[in-house]
Formats: sequence, structure tokens, C-alpha cells
Amino acid sequence: MTTTEQTTTFPMARGACPFDPPPALRPLREHRPVSRVRLWNGTEAWLVTRHADVRAVLADPRLSADMRTPGYPLISPARAGRAGQDTPPFIVLDDPEHSRLRRMLISDFTMRSTESLRPMVTGIVDDLLDAMAAGPRPVDLVTAFALPLPSLVICRMLGVPYGDHEFFQAVSARMLTSASAPEEVAAASDELRAYLRGLVEAKVDDPTDDLLGRLVQRRVRAGELSVDEAVSTASLLLIAGHETTANQLALGTLVLLDHPEQAAELRDTSDPTVVVRAVEELLRLLTIVHNARARVATEDLEIGGVRIAAGEGVLASSESANRDPEAFADPDRLDIHRAERHHVAFGFGVHQCLGQPLARLELQVAYPALLRRFPDLRVTRDPDELDYRSDKVVYGVREVPVSWGSAGKG
Ligand code: HEM
Repeated sequence: MTTTEQTTTFPMARGACPFDPPPALRPLREHRPVSRVRLWNGTEAWLVTRHADVRAVLADPRLSADMRTPGYPLISPARAGRAGQDTPPFIVLDDPEHSRLRRMLISDFTMRSTESLRPMVTGIVDDLLDAMAAGPRPVDLVTAFALPLPSLVICRMLGVPYGDHEFFQAVSARMLTSASAPEEVAAASDELRAYLRGLVEAKVDDPTDDLLGRLVQRRVRAGELSVDEAVSTASLLLIAGHETTANQLALGTLVLLDHPEQAAELRDTSDPTVVVRAVEELLRLLTIVHNARARVATEDLEIGGVRIAAGEGVLASSESANRDPEAFADPDRLDIHRAERHHVAFGFGVHQCLGQPLARLELQVAYPALLRRFPDLRVTRDPDELDYRSDKVVYGVREVPVSWGSAGKG
């Protein structure tokens, strides 16, 4: 591969607005929609920025998601640390292995089984909001609401003790920091795996009625799933289940507070369609699983008229696709009534997010409940001065100090 003067460094820096993807994506999408980028370790890959091309990449079985395939674009030191895992989770495996493992979970993530969790999710939301209302102001929305909600939900669903949340949240933070050294990520991953192995093995002898318990009883005992595979799956679900929704909830609330008229409409509506569309719009606009989906070509192929050779890395930028004016009218504007539902914030193709019905349920319950409980919710610091998570696999915000009620009370 030759390096040309036009090669851009990837990932790119974000600009002044914390809700927008890196500004350098726009000119690429307009003029060089499939272009070469250089990664931290000097290797190169193709960056794909148009919505139609991103979907084509993610739907193409000739592009592998397996990190061990030669040429796979490792976009950060942290990714390099995860590439050496012995039993990788199915998010980085190809079919048939990927679909064998994913299929074992599908019945737990259908719309119907997710809908049965609504009373549990609503109860958790109400309890957290009660505790916020009774506590001091200002309070950090992330630690009081956005993070405990998905953590409690995924723990109860999987059968992981929530009492251990400080441990697994700290370990997953180390794993998901892009700049973490590969050895540091591998060590954090081993710690989480050892913890989850203990839980999985305990469920072999002592059956529990939760997702991991059922997986152990039905699949591990039947010899269809090894203990190592069950541990990898548990690790994927535990991390994906709380990091993502927590950041979407916190960052989405900031966006809503920045658009008070639309926030008021979401707060006051009795029309479920408005809530559904608002959640999709916030997912599209923020695309928190940022820095593109990584794949590698296993055959020579063409994307957007550009020839990609077997063994070359491809980065499908969902954050750019979701701002493509050919797919979304006035794409940089928040419009909670937007009807198009073809955003790629949950990915596309066979690896499309398994937990999306759960994430949607949590967000559809949480945003309106928060706005209704505190109709005058406000951020007590300038949003431009908050600490945003550009350095993480999942974009978001570390802390959001909020208050409500009369000025004298904070
Ligand atoms: C996959 C985003 C919540 C579990 C993905 C992918 C994206 C994504 C973009 C595709 C990765 C790729 O193509 O390489 C999100 C967002 C969420 C969210 C934005 C919340 C706002 C969740 C939740 C869970 C979950 C709550 C569940 C427990 C998974 C799993 C995969 C996945 C297991 C791998 C699917 C596969 O490879 O077949 N997610 N996710 N996610 N997500 Fe989510």
C-alpha cells in the first residue's frame, strides 16, 4: 500500500460542538467518500463515509469482522489488546461461529421478551428518580441515573450481582479506553473473565432463572457451548449492556436541554410515536458507538466505485452515515419528529446490535420520566466545559451536574 499526501489520520478530532462528529468527515463524504486513512500504528485502511456505502459494507459477507483476520484495522492500542483474546466474543467473529453463538441469545432479546421487562425498567427508573429528588442538588446525572439504570437492568437480566458494579464498571472503563496499552486492556479483560467464570461455574451447580443461568443449563450442560464461550458472551453482554445506554442517556439529555422546545414536547406528549421517534433521532444524531465499524476484505471487491483488495482494512463510519444529507434531510438538526428509521447507530447487517430492543425500551422510559419528574431540569455548568469521552470506544460525557426547583435550592 502506498501512502499518498491525501492520507488522513484516523480517528479524527472532534470539533467545537460536542454533539457533532469530527468536522473532517463532511468534506470526505462530499468529495472522497471512500478514502485512505492512517492509523496510530502507521497502518492504513479505507474509510467509508456515505450512508449507502456504509450499509453496503456492513451487509457484505466478503468483509470480515474477525479481529484475527490479517489486515483487520486495529484503530487504537486498546483494540490491539483485545485482538489477542483466546475466545473472542461473537461481535468480532464471522459466521458460522458468530451466528451459532448469537442464535443462543435471540429469544432473550426479541421485542416480546424485552417488552416483558418494562415493569422492571419502569420500577428502576422511578426508584432512581425518587432517590434523586430526595438527595442534594446539584447532582451528577451520570452517577445518579444514567449509569445505574442500564447497569441494574443488565445485572438483573444476566444474573450478575449489582453489588459488584464498582468492580465491573472500573474494569470495563480500562478495557474501553482507546489509549490504554494493549497489555493493560488484556489484563483488565482477564480480570473480568475470571470474575464471570466464577459466576458461570457457580450456575452449573446451582441453577438460576436468569439469562446466564439458562445459558449454562441449556447450552453448556448440553455440550453446545463451552464455559469459555459462555464467559465471552457474558462479558460482551455486561459491557455492551451498560456502557452504551448510559452514555446515550446522559448525552441525549444534554441535547434535549439544549433544545428546550423539543424537550417540552417530549415531556408533555401522550403520543407514544413522539417518544419512539425522539429516541431514534437522538440515537442517530449522537451515534455514540463512534470511530467507525471495523472490517477487513477477504476478497477483492468494490465499494462506491473504489477497488478494495483482499486483506485491506475497511472502516465504515456510522457517525458520518448518520449525517449524510442524501439519507436524512437537514441531518445536523435535531428533529424529534423525524420519521426515517434507517439510521445505523445500532450498526447494520449480521452484527446489528442484539440489545437494541432493550436499549430502546430503557431510553423510551427514561427520557420522558426524567423530564416529567423535573420539568425545570437544568445543567449547572456550561455544557462546553463538560468532560466528553472522545477517548473511549463509546462516546459520551463523564459527568453532568444538574439541578431543578427554585434557584435558592441549587
Ligand atoms: C452490537 C450500538 C446497546 C448488545 C452493536 C453494534 C453497535 C451497537 C453499533 C454493532 C457493532 C459492529 O457492527 O461491529 C449500541 C448502542 C446501544 C447499544 C448505540 C445503546 C444506546 C446495547 C445493549 C446490549 C447490546 C443494551 C445488551 C445487552 C450488543 C451485542 C452486539 C452489539 C451483543 C453484538 C452483535 C453481533 O455481533 O451480532 N451495538 N448498542 N447493545 N450490541 Fe449494542
